[in-house]
Amino acid sequence: MFDSLSPLPADPILGLSAAHRSDSNPRKIDLGVGVYKDEQGHTPVMRAVKTAEARLLQNQVTKTYVSPAGSATFNSLIADLVLGDSLNKMLGDRRVTFQTPGGCGGLRLAAEFIQKVKPGSKILVSDPTWANHVPLLGEAGLQIETYPYYDYNNHGIRFDDMMTRISKAGVGDLVLLHGCCHNPCGADLNQDQWQAVAALAQKNGFTPFIDLAYQGLGDGLADDSYGVRLLAETLPELIVVSSCSKNFGLYRERTGALTVIADNANAVQAAASQIASTARGMYSMPPDHGASVVAEILADSELNSDWEQELTEVRERINSLRSALVTELNKQGIDRDFGFIEQEKGMFSFLGLSVDQVQTLINDYSIYLVNSSRINIAGINSSNIGYLAQSIAAVLKSS
Ligand code: LMR
Repeated sequence: MFDSLSPLPADPILGLSAAHRSDSNPRKIDLGVGVYKDEQGHTPVMRAVKTAEARLLQNQVTKTYVSPAGSATFNSLIADLVLGDSLNKMLGDRRVTFQTPGGCGGLRLAAEFIQKVKPGSKILVSDPTWANHVPLLGEAGLQIETYPYYDYNNHGIRFDDMMTRISKAGVGDLVLLHGCCHNPCGADLNQDQWQAVAALAQKNGFTPFIDLAYQGLGDGLADDSYGVRLLAETLPELIVVSSCSKNFGLYRERTGALTVIADNANAVQAAASQIASTARGMYSMPPDHGASVVAEILADSELNSDWEQELTEVRERINSLRSALVTELNKQGIDRDFGFIEQEKGMFSFLGLSVDQVQTLINDYSIYLVNSSRINIAGINSSNIGYLAQSIAAVLKSS
């Protein structure tokens, strides 16, 4: 059965970690996979997570099965976090949330659910989008098309072109939007633009599908969910997949959620039963640990405020690294304006390099980044920023 198989190339993002690990250059820098790193280059377990885990170890009395929907407590708390308490209350039985195996599991569960109920539905994704959106959604059978998004020359959003393209989407079509901290470009819709998208969805009837993987890493927990909350408040239908990988630092615990908002309680109940059966057929039920940790934190005011405090520290460190990188690059006398890096949000920005220039950075300087020139800002620290800026300058000046 396996004799005729040929190996696939490494994953464009995850493959960078393995390549970085096996590089013996002491100056190597890993700006590949989107994980937060502190000044020492470690990805720490958050303080509140450690405390919650200790409590769980002490207090958990069973490991019996959860259900395909996961923990009802987690689902309700995560819906409050994403939507805000008052809107969540207002939506009432128009909303259902499923605990999922990470954001990826949520994206795939949503895609399989849509494919089950409306096979071959069209989903428009931004150009560019996170590389893994395509297999997660497309391999479920959804038809992927793109809308223009990032302007590589002016480092902004091609908003008019985006609106022209998505205005062709109608009832039964989906439009994938990044809730905040766009991956890979870091350029987010502003509030006016979210309002225009909401009005267009209202008028044309397409269903927005929001991937909210970085809530709290851009401008703050509430600000980062402005778009989600606006669309949830104004539209009859919405799909939101949220992740606890980055904002709770729970990457390997695979903790995420799929929230579906429908026009009425009957539609929600029907959708919930379809999603439950889809989850059962894929993985039966989600893993418990990360979701139990998150529930413990969100339900306890002291733990919650410690978590929010640490998340603020993470966000502020990333923002200060953005400014520091621009300053260091400006010192190199490169004939380019990198100021956009300071304006963009979250973990990622493009450096604006060609694939060849990226390959030179990897091969000659041991600086690992995605071929699109996406860098994980959180991989920068005060020990490597000088070498990073000098290497980028050297590559740009020699091209
Ligand atoms: C990334 O974009 O680097 C992260 O979301 C990690 C991943 O799974 O690709």
